[in-house]
Order: sequence, then structure tokens, then C-alpha cells
Amino acid sequence: MSLPVPSPEAVVVVTGASSGIGAELARQLAALGHDVALVARREDRLQELAEEIRAGHEVQVTVHASDLRERAAREALLGAIASSGRHVAGLANNAGYGSTGRAWELDLEVEEGQIELNIEALHHLTLAVVPEMVRRRAGAVLNVASGAAFQPMPGMATYAATKAFVQSFSEALHAELAGTGVSVTTLCPGPVDTEFTEVAGIDESRFPGLLKVSAEEVAEQGVRGMLTGKRSVIPGTPNQALALAGRYTPRSVVLPVLKRQTLS
Ligand SMILES: NC(=O)c1ccc[n+]([C@@H]2O[C@H](COP(=O)([O-])OP(=O)(O)OC[C@H]3O[C@@H](n4cnc5c(N)ncnc54)[C@H](OP(=O)(O)O)[C@@H]3O)[C@@H](O)[C@H]2O)c1
Repeated sequence: MSLPVPSPEAVVVVTGASSGIGAELARQLAALGHDVALVARREDRLQELAEEIRAGHEVQVTVHASDLRERAAREALLGAIASSGRHVAGLANNAGYGSTGRAWELDLEVEEGQIELNIEALHHLTLAVVPEMVRRRAGAVLNVASGAAFQPMPGMATYAATKAFVQSFSEALHAELAGTGVSVTTLCPGPVDTEFTEVAGIDESRFPGLLKVSAEEVAEQGVRGMLTGKRSVIPGTPNQALALAGRYTPRSVVLPVLKRQTLS
């Protein structure tokens, strides 16, 4: 069944809902009638979005200001949902960030934070909600990876490695869950105009415009993936071609090309 029909006892959790793709996911899930739990650190942004969604749709919206790098914050989030008497019917693990430069020259805390958020938080939240979804024989997890998952990326070494983890873990789980009514979809966007670029220090002029897909379109394809239980979603035909190239081109070719693109 994947993402079940909306119910007052159920909630769909969206992490990283204070901007970009996550805010769009929350809007679109609410438009389908789902109650949504919005999670990120910037509470003012979440409250603003919650107001906007409540004004447009007859759904319940809760706001959870959490630093998901912290295990205790994740447990508090899960605890708050459980004590509200609701279960998680859908989870969009979207919160994430990147960094650009030679990994050993970057701030170690910023590098480690990517492992804590992009990997540990996603892994924890996924495995925390899937057992109940399996008991109910319905539920959908959307794990946001990236085009960076398909090959190592000199200049974004930590980020690409975290997204390779997301992809490998999520695709394996998708196969493990076959026949249970629960799905895990991996969303692999290429470049999207969001705050991500600024946070990661990416020079946007290095990405050809034709690779760009809007946050709305990426979210729409992600939500469709949750509804249909798709294993993997790569928005945009050029990004699908690049993903294939990243996966199958010999590393001896792909590594110097990406190094030149990101670090020169
Ligand atoms: N934009 C792209 O080009 C692109 C391409 C491929 C994949 N992606 C992936 O798409 C996902 C969404 O990114 P985006 O493009 O929408 O970027 P964004 O606009 O920067 O959004 C990132 C979200 O993550 C949240 N976040 C960051 N650190 C957090 C923490 N410690 N705890 C809780 N939430 C945290 C941010 O909220 P707060 O700062 O309020 O906490 C924000 O809501 C990420 O996983 C990213 O890796 C993006």
C-alpha cells in the first residue's frame, strides 16, 4: 500500500521542512490531506509554514524544533508523536547539508555533522518507524539522497559518501520490505535552487542550467514515489543520464573530471 490514505490517527513526518525541498514536500503532503509534523532547527520558519498550510488545508500541523544530529532530539521527536496518540504513516528524511573543498581542509565538525545528520539521523528515524509500518502493513519512507550518491566526488567527499550510504541503505531496505505493504523510496535530485547551495558553498555557475529542477517538481516526484512505492526517483532526464554515467564510467575517468569541476 505504501503511503496510506490520510487518517486523523496518522501523521507524515517531514524533516528539513524549514526551507527548500522539505517545505515543498510538507505543502504537497498536506494538500493530499495528510497531517504533517514539520521538523528542523529554525522554529520561526516552521511556524510560518505551519500557518500557511493550516490556512490552505484542513489538516493538523505540528512543529518540532529539533537539531536532528542529536540522538536525544530524535528520541524526543518520536516520543512527542507517540504521546499524541498518533502513528507515523509516512516519513520524509529530507534534512541534510553539504560542504565544498578538500575534506582535510574543511572544519571537522562540519564534516562530522554531515555524517550525524545525513546518515545517523536518517538511519535512526527510518528504523524507528518501519516496524510499526510493517505491523500495519502500510507506510512510506522517502529518503533524500542526491545525484552525488552515484560516484565519489572530489571537492564534496564527505557529502557524496553520506549520500552513497543513503542510497545503498534505502535501496536494500526497499528490497527487504517487498510484500510488506511498506516502501522506502530513494530520491536523488540533481541541482535544485534552495539554501543548500549557499550552505554548502557551491559555485552555482559550475552546474549547467539544464540540470536544474525546481524544488516543487522534485517534491512532487518524491511524493509520487511514496504513493506508488517506487524504489528510486531521479528528477529530470539529464540527471538520469548523469546518474548512469556516474555509476558506470570508470573511476579513473570520473574522478579527475569531477575534481576539475569542483576544485579548480
Ligand atoms: N538543493 C540541491 O541542489 C540538492 C541536490 C541533491 C540533494 N539535495 C538534498 O535535499 C535535501 C534538502 O535540501 P534542500 O536543497 O532543500 O536544502 P535546504 O533548503 O538547505 O534545506 C535543508 C533543510 O535541512 C534542515 N537541517 C539542516 N541541518 C539540520 C539539523 N541539524 N537538524 C534538523 N534539520 C536540519 C534545514 O533546516 P534548519 O536550518 O532550520 O535546521 C533545512 O530545512 C538535503 O538532504 C540535500 O542534501 C539537495
